[in-house]
Amino acid sequence: MTEIVHVPLGDRAYDVHIGPDLLSQAGTLIAPLLRRPRVAIVTDENVGRLHLKTLLDGLKAQDIAHATLTLPVGEATKSWPQFERTVEWLLAERIERRDVVIAFGGGVIGDLVGFAAAVLRRGVRFVQIPTSLLAQVDSSVGGKTGINAPQGKNLIGAFHQPSLVLADTAVLEALPARDYLAGYGEVVKYGLLGDSAFFEWLETNGAEAARGDMAARSRAVKRSVEMKAEIVVRDETEQGDRALLNLGHTFCHALEAATGYSDRLLHGEGVAIGCALAFDLSARLGLCPQEEPSRVRAHLREMNMKADLSDIMGELPDADGLLELMAQDKKVVDGRLNFVLARGIGQAFVAKDVAPDTVRMLLQDALTARS
Ligand code: GLY
Repeated sequence: MTEIVHVPLGDRAYDVHIGPDLLSQAGTLIAPLLRRPRVAIVTDENVGRLHLKTLLDGLKAQDIAHATLTLPVGEATKSWPQFERTVEWLLAERIERRDVVIAFGGGVIGDLVGFAAAVLRRGVRFVQIPTSLLAQVDSSVGGKTGINAPQGKNLIGAFHQPSLVLADTAVLEALPARDYLAGYGEVVKYGLLGDSAFFEWLETNGAEAARGDMAARSRAVKRSVEMKAEIVVRDETEQGDRALLNLGHTFCHALEAATGYSDRLLHGEGVAIGCALAFDLSARLGLCPQEEPSRVRAHLREMNMKADLSDIMGELPDADGLLELMAQDKKVVDGRLNFVLARGIGQAFVAKDVAPDTVRMLLQDALTARS
């Protein structure tokens, strides 16, 4: 059963389809967007090997021709060289203004291909077919596209909304457990930031969804996408409320930088730890009850997820080193630390100008608990 979440952004409105076996229906769903029966697909080696044939069969059923570019797997692909390669390939394939490009993969492919679509001939339409849980619940929706710079992640990019998103929940079965759970970090984030009933639902059903229950997975993806869509519609270009989606991310970005963006810490794992730390900070500042951080961690632990700095293997910088990394984050405005904090589960808000000393003490305690 397919669910549809509409993202009402005026002349850039689109639908997100969520459910199993959407790849085989891709031709039917994409055909109404096409002026000629041909698409350009950009994917990566893993997704291409596992799922490209199913997508191509779905397109072929509607006589849609294709050209496919397969990029290497991994964060290093979100770079100028692969971006240049993608744009030049799209030009060589004579993709025109009215054509449609398909981003078929996880967050790296979605971000890079969305950015290529944003600048190719000053903007062509693109369809997101996200294949990781993280991409289905976060990066494929909302129009943030871009690549990394040597100076930091996601520093080069554009807002460019997709014309359609197909979140096929059956492809999640192919994900290694660690990748699924990392994506689940973003799912938990939605409950924590704005929907306590959803968090409660996850406490009861999250483990079942992780074990493969398709209905539970679809419901988790759908509620996450609904929440993201609501926030994006209120604040498409992150002038205010969209920053709520960054709950846990100031800590996460510092931890990702500290671990060299390596597989010591996946992004979604950093988000989960970052959410727990954001609730610790909120409790220390007297903003939320002391029990809330424990409840957040209890759920993460039950899901076998990372929940503390002690779950990160290897060396970490000291508290000052981590603070320094936070100060380089995009969320710093005029040198002040901005955090998303919470008055309780489901009640996040953007706090400007948090005292660095409080954050330093929190990090010192978290690092001490680790040793
Ligand atoms: N991933 C955060 C956002 O889309 O705003």
